[in-house]
Amino acid sequence: MIAAIIAAAGSGERFGASIPKALIQLGNRTLLQHSISALSSVADQIVVTAPAGYEDQIRALVGTEITVVTGGATRSESVRRGLAAITSADFVLVHDAARALASRELAARVVASLNSGEVAVIPALPEVDTVKIIDAQGYVTSTPDRASLRRVQTPQGFAYSVLKGAHQNSADATDDAVLVADAGHKVLVIDGEERAIKITTPHDLATALQFMGHAQSFSTGVGVDAHAFGQGRELWLAGLHWPDEVGVEGHSDGDVAAHAICDALFAATGLGDLGSNFGTSRPEYAGASGVKLLKETYLLISNAGYSISHVSVQIIGNRPRIGARRAEAIATMSAALGGAEVAILATTTDGMGLTGEGKGIAAIASALVTRNRS
Ligand code: CTP
Ligand code: MG
Repeated sequence: MIAAIIAAAGSGERFGASIPKALIQLGNRTLLQHSISALSSVADQIVVTAPAGYEDQIRALVGTEITVVTGGATRSESVRRGLAAITSADFVLVHDAARALASRELAARVVASLNSGEVAVIPALPEVDTVKIIDAQGYVTSTPDRASLRRVQTPQGFAYSVLKGAHQNSADATDDAVLVADAGHKVLVIDGEERAIKITTPHDLATALQFMGHAQSFSTGVGVDAHAFGQGRELWLAGLHWPDEVGVEGHSDGDVAAHAICDALFAATGLGDLGSNFGTSRPEYAGASGVKLLKETYLLISNAGYSISHVSVQIIGNRPRIGARRAEAIATMSAALGGAEVAILATTTDGMGLTGEGKGIAAIASALVTRNRS
């Protein structure tokens, strides 16, 4: 069991925006959503520390599967509040929302080191500049040997009990490894990555955009699904349960919106389709929820090196009325897709065709994905 804390409670003073730094947009998503997608493939539980007053906005952004707690006055205090929301775990990863472009591969390497027996693992890069230590008047007091200096990044990984112990008093530090080392534990440094820069100023945001743009190519896909109404079935649509509606027939829960999105993603990535990945030959997916299939699809395409830029789905049918629950549906499906941007539309067909006659529900989805060229 792996838990992750994403420190996102800072105000971003040095960035100088009017909103917290974690909510700043980088390409198609906020910094916070980028950082969540880096950890969602390795972490079973994710806790986000939010700036006070932004908890509900962040909950709506990240979906119900992620725990949102109010952060503290310092980063260390925020991490302690995040830790308090974790009931049990073998390992905990602590990540800065500001390091939006840290890759899934980096998170996986941190976890691999923990699995091989390390209790504290931190990614870092060599220092290129000569570093001086100065006194209060600005005079140099010493010059550490550059060859042994490292610039430390996140996600940092720890054995749960080790991190918990290190945070027992209210010490403050700019990263968690300091506290763990002070508590007497060995901290292993592994290779970090350039793209995991901490976005601190608008200039860093421009650098991050370059990291995104240079490494990507785009592709699109379309997916369609339809199911007939079936008496005695519960209706699941767009990741939500609709208690007062008639459900549809199907091998799974019959969530046509989720299924159409899965197929659009498979079409864009060339990784087969819903049937070939989760069809009747895979009995473990019988009755699977739309959210589960979205998550599995997200995992498959992520492992193949794709990121979701945008998905949209249009639901075609007389019932149910989507509008009132649109925001909830978007948050649920977006969370299942690692925080991707999701649009949900609905239409009737003026009484024409199978769905117009009230025989069932259909959905058409499109997906835009990017692929790392590296
Ligand atoms: N952070 C936090 N709680 C705090 C302060 C910082 O969770 N009280 C988080 C930030 O949201 C960020 C990470 O810790 O993701 C690293 O901090 P930093 O880059 O310094 O972000 P800010 O504190 O927001 O920026 P600034 O120092 O410029 O105000
Ligand atoms: Mg700060």
